[in-house]
Amino acid sequence: MPDPGKHLASYSAVVVTGGSSGIGKSFIELGAKLNPELVFCNLSRRSPGEKIASLLGKRLNHFGCDLSRAGEVRRAAEAVQSWLEKAVPEGRILLINNSGIGAFGEFPQPNLERQLEIVDLNVRAVVEMTGCFLPLLRRRGGGIINVASTLGFFPAAFSATYSASKAFVLHWSLALREDLRGSGIRVLALCPGTTSTEFFAAAGQGQGAVVGVLTHQPDEVARKALSALAANRALVVPGGVNGLYTTLGARLPKRWVAGLAGDLMRRLRRTPNHE
Ligand SMILES: NC(=O)c1ccc[n+]([C@@H]2O[C@H](COP(=O)([O-])OP(=O)(O)OC[C@H]3O[C@@H](n4cnc5c(N)ncnc54)[C@H](OP(=O)(O)O)[C@@H]3O)[C@@H](O)[C@H]2O)c1
Repeated sequence: MPDPGKHLASYSAVVVTGGSSGIGKSFIELGAKLNPELVFCNLSRRSPGEKIASLLGKRLNHFGCDLSRAGEVRRAAEAVQSWLEKAVPEGRILLINNSGIGAFGEFPQPNLERQLEIVDLNVRAVVEMTGCFLPLLRRRGGGIINVASTLGFFPAAFSATYSASKAFVLHWSLALREDLRGSGIRVLALCPGTTSTEFFAAAGQGQGAVVGVLTHQPDEVARKALSALAANRALVVPGGVNGLYTTLGARLPKRWVAGLAGDLMRRLRRTPNHE
């Protein structure tokens, strides 16, 4: 496996969405360790926090924004790019589309607004952010990591909108990679399984969802992704068991998979916070 540190040395800046917690924050922490010269731009509502800010100093720049809102993605992308052109005018750029939210329950629980917010943040913002950054990436060279999910392989009941949003990210990333073949821009779809972050609490699923042998840590997920980017892979599913069931799920007829996933989700169902 190629060394992710060596590969990251070829970038001058990382633009990450959702670096205020979980996997996004781990990308910043790990990236900063692997390449002490890298500059980070984070886009999310909250900042990544005092600890990481004092550690990275001027290398970490937070652009506060709500990427689920119409107009905010373009505004934030323009602000980051004009800052980069002045502060880091040369070198490759790694864009990590990581911000994402879910909801657990029968559609449209907890409400239709949340379902639409999932589409706006997990789908629309990823397409718009990538579109806004593409001319800069083409000019300076770079890479794109889109954070999908193992659920992107399954039509999953109780997470219908979320799993479909991640299926979009997965398929879109793989096709985008082909569109950009020969451009020098790498595109990777990252499909984590259950990872111990704030995600489940935010999705109304309760902390119980993140306890188990299949649960991964966010720094482990970020490391696997950076190694896969270094190897110029199209897709990475961190964790052997996750790799096995997604490979199997991708080969079965969708109708069967939806039924199996529905049964499983019903059995695993925990009381959502909103009930
Ligand atoms: N945890 C898992 O088991 C798991 C599994 C598969 C895939 N994923 C995916 O991994 C990615 C990261 O999630 P995580 O697990 O690290 O969860 P997390 O700890 O809840 O982090 C989610 C990040 O998304 C940002 N975000 C949420 N709403 C936003 C908005 N409106 N505008 C801008 N940023 C927003 C949050 O920042 P602010 O709140 O500060 O805005 C936060 O930094 C997501 O795309 C998720 O779907 C997670």
